[in-house]
Amino acid sequence: MAAAAAIPLTPLDTRIERVLPTREDSGYSSPVEPPSPGSFTVKLNDGNEIPLLALGVYKAPNGQETEDAVTIALDAGYRHIDSAARYANEEACGRAVRKWLEKTGTPREDVFITTKLWDADHGYEATLGALCESLRKFQLDYFDLYLIHSPSDDKEKRHQSWRALETAQKLGKVRSIGVSNFGASHLDGLLAEARVVPAVNQIEVHPFCQRRALIDVCRGHGIAIEAYSPLARGDKLRDPRITRIAERNGRTPAQILLNWNISRGNIVLPKSLTAGRILSNMESFSFTLSPEDFAELDALGSENYVTGSLHRSED
Ligand SMILES: NC(=O)c1ccc[n+]([C@@H]2O[C@H](COP(=O)([O-])OP(=O)(O)OC[C@H]3O[C@@H](n4cnc5c(N)ncnc54)[C@H](OP(=O)(O)O)[C@@H]3O)[C@@H](O)[C@H]2O)c1
Repeated sequence: MAAAAAIPLTPLDTRIERVLPTREDSGYSSPVEPPSPGSFTVKLNDGNEIPLLALGVYKAPNGQETEDAVTIALDAGYRHIDSAARYANEEACGRAVRKWLEKTGTPREDVFITTKLWDADHGYEATLGALCESLRKFQLDYFDLYLIHSPSDDKEKRHQSWRALETAQKLGKVRSIGVSNFGASHLDGLLAEARVVPAVNQIEVHPFCQRRALIDVCRGHGIAIEAYSPLARGDKLRDPRITRIAERNGRTPAQILLNWNISRGNIVLPKSLTAGRILSNMESFSFTLSPEDFAELDALGSENYVTGSLHRSED
């Protein structure tokens, strides 16, 4: 994938001064447009690059509405789609991606596709079967990232699933492999047996659920953080502490939440099926929050999960 800019992952306490190059320091001047925020990437521990921004598609139907949203996102400059077998919309996402690649003549390598192994499919053979089924639904030859959606309670099965992911990576069916909803103890157990260190851990992260301890553990192993529910599912967008910062910066509350995460080097996966929101969520890169803004956001809390107990990885 051609990287417009690589933002190195940073320790949690080191903020990136300026999230993206401005038009001036990108070297671009009018009428040439600066690169789209959708193409900004970070490097994973396996050397592959992953776009910092993805369109999340949880609860998106397996039909035209999702096809349209994915197409709008790709047209706007997103280059990363985050799906899952559990979301039951892999066909719609695949149709949209393939049509868009064909329409625009874009090479497959320029779009980053993630999907996930559902909990019912843990185990070596079952994992490989589930991966093949997801590839069939997407009608793709490989995924850029395949994740274990949640750690099975059965440690042996969990590790068998990981071995299957390692095999799939060797076979070229997935370029990067990672986990989701893994806590520190799950990671410890996995790393003791794994040949490949997970490239990412996808967990709930936003200013109301900061997960500092777990993020420190992941960073210590070179595991990138994918922040899911980065908009706190929309629940906190009217919180006066967020709207005050948004007004101060002339930004939307959603952009403030996304900027907080991106500024920490986290990959963000905002979900929207609404064209205007898909577009405005992209504009979360081009401003810098002040130290005072960060202090206020950092003070909001650490354990206010919006996704419920199913997805609480123990830190
Ligand atoms: N690995 C896991 O276990 C896991 C768990 C949860 C989520 N995820 C991933 O992370 C993605 C995002 O998480 P999420 O879907 O839970 O929640 P989210 O992205 O935090 O929030 C999505 C909600 O916010 C609304 N929204 C989006 N942009 C907005 C804006 N600019 N202004 C106001 N409202 C806005 C959306 O509505 P509309 O769609 O109506 O615009 C939707 O209701 C998922 O889609 C999925 O890909 C992974």
